Amino acid sequence: MEKSYCIVTYGCQMNVHESEKIAGILRAKGYTREAREEEADIIVFNTCCIRENAENHAYGNIGALKKMKKARPSLLIAVGGCMTQQDGAAEKLKKKFPFVDIVFGTHNLEELGRLIDLKEGRKKAVVEIVPGKERVEGEDKDISFRTSYPNAWVNIMYGCNNFCSYCIVPYVRGRERSRRPENILAEANALLDEGYKEITLLGQNVNSYGNDAGGVFTFPQLLDKICKRKEKFRLRFMTSNPKDFGEELIRAVAENEQVCNLIHLPVQAGSDRILKLMNRKYTAEEYLKKVELLRKAVPGCCLTTDLMVGFPTETEEDFQDTLRLVKEAGFSTAFTFVYSPRAGTAAAAMEGQIPDEVKKDRIMRLVEAVNSGTRELSSAYLGKTVEILCEDFDEKKKLYLGRDEYGRMGYFQSEENHIGEFVRLKIEEAAGISLQGSLVK
Ligand code: SAH
Ligand code: SF4
Ligand code: F3S
Repeated sequence: MEKSYCIVTYGCQMNVHESEKIAGILRAKGYTREAREEEADIIVFNTCCIRENAENHAYGNIGALKKMKKARPSLLIAVGGCMTQQDGAAEKLKKKFPFVDIVFGTHNLEELGRLIDLKEGRKKAVVEIVPGKERVEGEDKDISFRTSYPNAWVNIMYGCNNFCSYCIVPYVRGRERSRRPENILAEANALLDEGYKEITLLGQNVNSYGNDAGGVFTFPQLLDKICKRKEKFRLRFMTSNPKDFGEELIRAVAENEQVCNLIHLPVQAGSDRILKLMNRKYTAEEYLKKVELLRKAVPGCCLTTDLMVGFPTETEEDFQDTLRLVKEAGFSTAFTFVYSPRAGTAAAAMEGQIPDEVKKDRIMRLVEAVNSGTRELSSAYLGKTVEILCEDFDEKKKLYLGRDEYGRMGYFQSEENHIGEFVRLKIEEAAGISLQGSLVK
């Protein structure tokens, strides 16, 4: 009988892409896709632990499966990803949810097929978490089953060496490992051959791509190589750490038409004292200087960022520095977070943790500041014609949707299917962060 899988994903694009790899593994074992948890033969949770609420979500949803597992003992429940890779997390998970069948981590995702076989032969749960390796077998192969056409994610590197003092990622993802350029190129070329129209290169800090291989092949060179292809497509990347963001990359963005003029450059905070405590290795002024260079070399370039409030010892004055920076940098949008202490990180042990009410007050004011900037930029779209890569049909709104080069979502009506096509829209409505318009032939 045919078996089916359902994957529940939390966290960043890296995880979304890794869920595509998990899907590839399950399909190779003969499983088919099933959207409803209650119909699936295996449910895989691909978890995140970047903030406490990400973990709470996963915990809540895994806990909710207890009943289902009782009624249907043949159901397999597997939990993997960043959450399980933390010290002691697998044991904690097993204790809390004894009905979970398989626990794996970030360094042995490729082993899931074997873990399933192992579980099928025994009653006891299979728990395998391995420490980070130099190079992970399988990291270089594309085993993904993709469902994101016309967009595709491509890993260029794994792990992170930066140890920002608040961040758990280096602990759960291990040290930086860059994929070989020829493998990345082969994957990108194959995707373009298949008709994908947008490729997003993924890494925690794409600017340090290749450093672990002696720096002979750099990230800007990689962009140049991929952009040798002559057909129309878009190339994006994330994330770029401002400390290593420099002239060469700006040059590559400016010169290669396919590289979108939208840069995600997480600044985190506007106070130099806080940035130092965060171990970010740049000042607010240095950051703004780089933004200026970028805007000069790439006119019209849009900028997005990540911001955090409530880092230990953050004063109202520090917070005001963040608000000021938001105004000066002119972000088209920003992801805003409340600092969440992560066990084992340097910041979690710092004195001066900020009370919840203060964090709440600051995040509200920050969101308002970011939104007012976004609204201003949106209204400038009215009446303009923009190019959208159509990527989906919204069943509820009965409208096609896609994004422009700068990441703005645009909706439009059409009788024909345009998914995977570049279309032009005349913008008639620009509310908040999304746009609506009519097709221009
Ligand atoms: N590698 C990327 C960031 C990946 S994590 C970079 O350095 O830019 C994505 C975002 O989550 C970070 O930019 C940060 O704003 C936020 N974040 C990370 N750890 C956090 C924590 N402990 N609490 C709150 N937000 C956090
Ligand atoms: Fe975390 Fe900093 Fe690494 Fe980004 S660069 S993943 S914030 S440690
Ligand atoms: Fe991503 Fe969350 Fe892991 S943000 S790298 S899935 S901790």
